[in-house]
Amino acid sequence: HGLLGEVWDDEMSSSRLSSRMKKVVQNYQAMNKYGVKLSGPAGGTRRLKLSGPELLCQLKRKVEVLSLTSDLHPFSMLPWASQLPAQQLTSELGPLKSCAVVSSAGSLRHSGLGKEIDSHDAVMRFNAAPTSGFEKDVGSKTTMRLINSQVMASEEYRFLSSSLYSSGVLVAWDPAPFSSDLTQWLNRTDYPIFAQYQRYRRLHPQQPFFILHPRFEWQVWQQVQENMAESIQKNPPSSGFLGTVLMMSLCEVVHVYEFLPSKRKTELCHYYQHFYDAACTLGAYHPLLYEKNLVKRMNQGADRDIYTHGRVTLPGFNAINC
Ligand code: C5P
Repeated sequence: HGLLGEVWDDEMSSSRLSSRMKKVVQNYQAMNKYGVKLSGPAGGTRRLKLSGPELLCQLKRKVEVLSLTSDLHPFSMLPWASQLPAQQLTSELGPLKSCAVVSSAGSLRHSGLGKEIDSHDAVMRFNAAPTSGFEKDVGSKTTMRLINSQVMASEEYRFLSSSLYSSGVLVAWDPAPFSSDLTQWLNRTDYPIFAQYQRYRRLHPQQPFFILHPRFEWQVWQQVQENMAESIQKNPPSSGFLGTVLMMSLCEVVHVYEFLPSKRKTELCHYYQHFYDAACTLGAYHPLLYEKNLVKRMNQGADRDIYTHGRVTLPGFNAINC
């Protein structure tokens, strides 16, 4: 029990953070950059704590993975509309059997999980996470890469020139207004996602490249908020959790690695960088702490798997009976 006491507690709350991080989180909880409107009570909306299977069914019922297509208004009116896929991501990519979601956490270092990760039918990675040089710990297969608009637009990531992004299917997202009004978003993205999308598509016309509909990110956010007893940051969920829900829509079973930290837990932010900050694991801008509470509650694997492998087991939406 001493050991398993180290495993993520699904009632983790911002009150248990260091005073520095508590202030950062409280700041974001008070800010409302995207105009989030909540129907429930102010301090969180959870009325009663749902069981794991109940949570899974709620998520399946209330969240739909949606992506932008060339015929979707107002994009259909733009000269570059034909660069967008004609079909939905879910109709092009599923169904898959076993899938691995690889968080970029520092605790993947020295995990030796590479072979296990690569044994899945599909592997999802995030943002600028490399495999080259880290194969032993994170594997080498990349089926999908979920990237945020900051990675697409900030010089430091070399999105247009690096080979890091050229294998597998790309899926991008940008924090949009809560209303999911596409015209408002088009005129006020956080980063220039659409200009960069067009440039990348011209350079790599054959690589599948989807953009998530903002309704998806806010549906996921709402599920996190509705199941927490306190109010969460009014910012979109992290790439890691968006990717996990996306894979639950495509796969029969999803293994998520080092999202809930193992015995290797560390303040090292990413396995591929020498940068230390506990906020990478606990969240500052993103409601990451609460996403982890939800994942812990939905986990169908053993606490021991979290402790030793940083591994969570989630069923695909098609594999559950509600
Ligand atoms: O930092 P980045 O967003 O690229 O990392 C990918 C995802 O991995 C995050 O969105 C988060 O969900 C997860 N992560 C984590 N703990 C870390 C680093 C990343 O849970 N220390």
